[in-house]
Amino acid sequence: MRVAFVGKGGSGKTTLSALFARYTASRGGPVVAVDADINQHLGMALGLAEGALPRPMGSHLTEIKEYLRGDNPRISSASAMVKTTPPGSGSRLLRLDERDDPIHTGFSAPTPEGPQLMVTGPFSEDDLGVACYHSKVGAVELYLNHLLDSAGEYVVVDMTAGADSFASGLFTRFDMTFLVAEPTRQGVSVYRQYRDYAADYGVPVAVVGNKIHGPGDVAFLRDQVGDDLLVCLEHSAAIRAMEQGRPFTLRDLEPANSRALGTLLDHLDTREKDWFRFGRQAVQFHLRNAEAWANRATGEDLAAQIDPGFVFGPTRVSLSR
Ligand SMILES: Nc1ncnc2c1ncn2[C@@H]1O[C@H](COP(=O)(O)OP(=O)(O)OP(=O)(O)O)[C@@H](O)[C@H]1O
Ligand SMILES: [Mg+2]
Repeated sequence: MRVAFVGKGGSGKTTLSALFARYTASRGGPVVAVDADINQHLGMALGLAEGALPRPMGSHLTEIKEYLRGDNPRISSASAMVKTTPPGSGSRLLRLDERDDPIHTGFSAPTPEGPQLMVTGPFSEDDLGVACYHSKVGAVELYLNHLLDSAGEYVVVDMTAGADSFASGLFTRFDMTFLVAEPTRQGVSVYRQYRDYAADYGVPVAVVGNKIHGPGDVAFLRDQVGDDLLVCLEHSAAIRAMEQGRPFTLRDLEPANSRALGTLLDHLDTREKDWFRFGRQAVQFHLRNAEAWANRATGEDLAAQIDPGFVFGPTRVSLSR
């Protein structure tokens, strides 16, 4: 199961991604936490020392593409593989139960409470152009497109602020998207934008209230987002202490906030994986991307990379008879 944490800048995406990843790992499932934000803080929020960060995926795109394309005859070279290039016959697929492939062994690092961390890597001043930014995040899109995850296995992605993720198909690659919202007018503004966009693509979104100070805050959120409000986390002294540099483990978290993490996990676990939507949208966004810039950039007709016989998902049941 894959989940993204999105929302306004400063709402608590990184904090909640890290807490949710720690909580989920404590329940036993393998958990990969992915830092896909411009400012890379997820490692720290997972309790990782700075020197222990994994190699950044965004700086080794060619290596990643070279592995994933395997001997897929439809992909002529790593440079013809763009972020939306879907897997096909001959591509290499990744699994969370084994993780002995070069992507997981080469680009992830263990964190103290169990999650494995993967990162797109930090951005320099020169990277701030939109194209380069999206190519770094493209590593995450490639990773998710080639991943065969099952129930009880988790990928948690800390996304960039606001609605930037709509610029690519990345926002459609998840089984659930948690939109973190503070109980303020600014806090819910991103929600409306995200909800409308997500609804057009059948992307499920649930709102997680954060930094709640009391019943008035909950009532405000309920009034603004209605039944989309799944659960709220209180303003946390334990999280504040962690930010002040004090050692932190899940056991330090307030019981109400721990229960809220449990609600998030239960909600994710009730989702059925929709591999059909996933495959259909992978093709849709690849064709869009090919026309928008990728055909020109690679000098190839990238529509030819689509393998019509390839079925996404672990059960290789053919849809055509
Ligand atoms: N429930 C909470 N209680 C107390 N403090 C919190 C809570 N959630 C988040 N914070 C604090 O709010 C600040 C912003 O949180 P965080 O960095 O997780 O937000 P973000 O959405 O990832 O921000 P950015 O958009 O900059 O990536 C941090 O100082 C964090 O410790
Ligand atoms: Mg953040």
